[in-house]
Amino acid sequence: MVFALPHLLVFLLVLLPISSIAQNNGNVTVGNSLTATDNTTSWLSPSGDFAFGFRPLSNQKDLFLLSIWFDKIPDKTVVWYARVDNPVPRGSKVKLDADNGLVLTGPQGDELWTANTIVGTVAYGVMSNTGNFVLQDSSFNNLWESFKNPTDTLLPSQIVERSVVVVLYSRQSETNFSKGRFLLKLQDDGDLVLNTINLPTDNANDPYYNSGTVASVNDSGTSGTAGKQLVFNNSGYIYILRENNQRFPLSQVKLDSTADFYFRATLNFDGVFTQYSHPKTFNANGSWTSLWSMPDNICLATVSNSGSGTCGYNSICTLKSDRRPKCDCPRGYSLLDPNDQYGSCQPDFIQGCQEDKLGPGKDLYSFEVLINTDWPNADYAFLRPYTEDQCKQSCMEDCMCAVTIFRAVKFVFGLLP
Ligand SMILES: *[C@@H]1O[C@H](CO)[C@@H](O)[C@H](O)[C@H]1NC(C)=O
Ligand SMILES: *[C@@H]1O[C@H](CO)[C@@H](O)[C@H](O)[C@H]1NC(C)=O
Ligand SMILES: *[C@@H]1O[C@H](CO)[C@@H](O)[C@H](O)[C@H]1NC(C)=O
Ligand SMILES: *[C@@H]1O[C@H](CO)[C@@H](O)[C@H](O)[C@H]1NC(C)=O
Ligand SMILES: *[C@@H]1O[C@H](CO)[C@@H](O)[C@H](O)[C@H]1NC(C)=O
Ligand SMILES: *[C@@H]1O[C@H](CO)[C@@H](O)[C@H](O)[C@H]1NC(C)=O
Repeated sequence: MVFALPHLLVFLLVLLPISSIAQNNGNVTVGNSLTATDNTTSWLSPSGDFAFGFRPLSNQKDLFLLSIWFDKIPDKTVVWYARVDNPVPRGSKVKLDADNGLVLTGPQGDELWTANTIVGTVAYGVMSNTGNFVLQDSSFNNLWESFKNPTDTLLPSQIVERSVVVVLYSRQSETNFSKGRFLLKLQDDGDLVLNTINLPTDNANDPYYNSGTVASVNDSGTSGTAGKQLVFNNSGYIYILRENNQRFPLSQVKLDSTADFYFRATLNFDGVFTQYSHPKTFNANGSWTSLWSMPDNICLATVSNSGSGTCGYNSICTLKSDRRPKCDCPRGYSLLDPNDQYGSCQPDFIQGCQEDKLGPGKDLYSFEVLINTDWPNADYAFLRPYTEDQCKQSCMEDCMCAVTIFRAVKFVFGLLP
């Protein structure tokens, strides 16, 4: 009895430091799990900059997103998420499993998602200070990395190989994490491209941005100019590394130090790929600042022979100062889905040949003139030479006509009130 007490003290003294290290080295052991609740805990990186776990969705009560986020900033900006069809309900669970890696199950135990490790037995999960969540075997080989399975955001020190089919998919909207209409990929030929896709398939339209980092035609590719990797280096610079190890920078913008700023690059839900910075200082009310983005003008760039571009059908795209698009319905039209500002617009009036027959044609409609606006790829007639008045007249007499474009001026039909 007399000797038992010192032993116990020694045991405690040794145990306490170990347990506090175990909580802080980003190390998660097999068998550990997290549950989606209001006061859910998360797995933190040693520095505390990043957290892995469930985040409640701001606009959807009782729904959660399994994700990685910047944990020290008020925004808690999400940088990676498990791509499931729908956000998961309260009570869902993620478990670190030796054979299946990360396993996400619903409240009834139904499997919703797994981190696909393919081979090996998982020994640890590590939430690293770079924001990469890694699954390792007992020899510290990486079996799965969130950095190798990006969603819509890249972080410094993240490198994506050409072999990866698609690098990034945008989300549906700022708050809806379902797969959106835009993708970024490093093609087999080395070209980095941004495409719109025709959901629900991945079928891509012509690129609305391409880097041009392909093999040189002059020397049948021997100079190694094709891109092999998309690199976001530790200093925050993003470039395409060519086979000949030359760099093709995506931007010439000079960056602040990663010691003072967080960086991320996100394929936004509107198709604009943007690099942002955010001050690390705790007491300042920092926010994400856009450093550069591509393409230069998403409104012009996404014009393609299929799909509506960044705004929905019948919607008019205007570029804001931050190079992000603003989508507005023309007068006389309103949003098909009132909650989706970026969606399609429908006329508030009935338009068609039937209506024209019922009334005295010309009085049914009027013209709304929009300057510097075009409605590309929808022409069914091209009259030349023709004056502006002849154009208007022709449209008035044509019950199929909704828009006439006169050089850079567009007329939209609206019903007279
Ligand atoms: C994780 O923890 C285990 C046991 O506590 C330890 O053996 C391993 O080295 C740790 N891994 C890392 C990456 O810190
Ligand atoms: C978590 O929140 C619930 C109510 O939302 C509360 O009853 C419970 O005590 C909380 N648990 C912890 C560990 O704070
Ligand atoms: C997100 O958008 C998709 C596609 O439009 C829709 O099916 C889904 O219900 C939306 N999810 C939420 C949580 O609103
Ligand atoms: C290819 O050759 C043309 C004409 O000889 C030259 O103008 C062009 O710069 C060359 N391109 C490259 C990538 O070397
Ligand atoms: C990152 O890339 C930039 C531009 O190529 C370079 O100046 C810088 O030294 C690189 N930083 C690191 C850590 O490699
Ligand atoms: C942060 O914002 C709050 C409210 O917007 C303000 O009261 C506070 O002074 C700001 N702090 C700093 C350091 O700017």
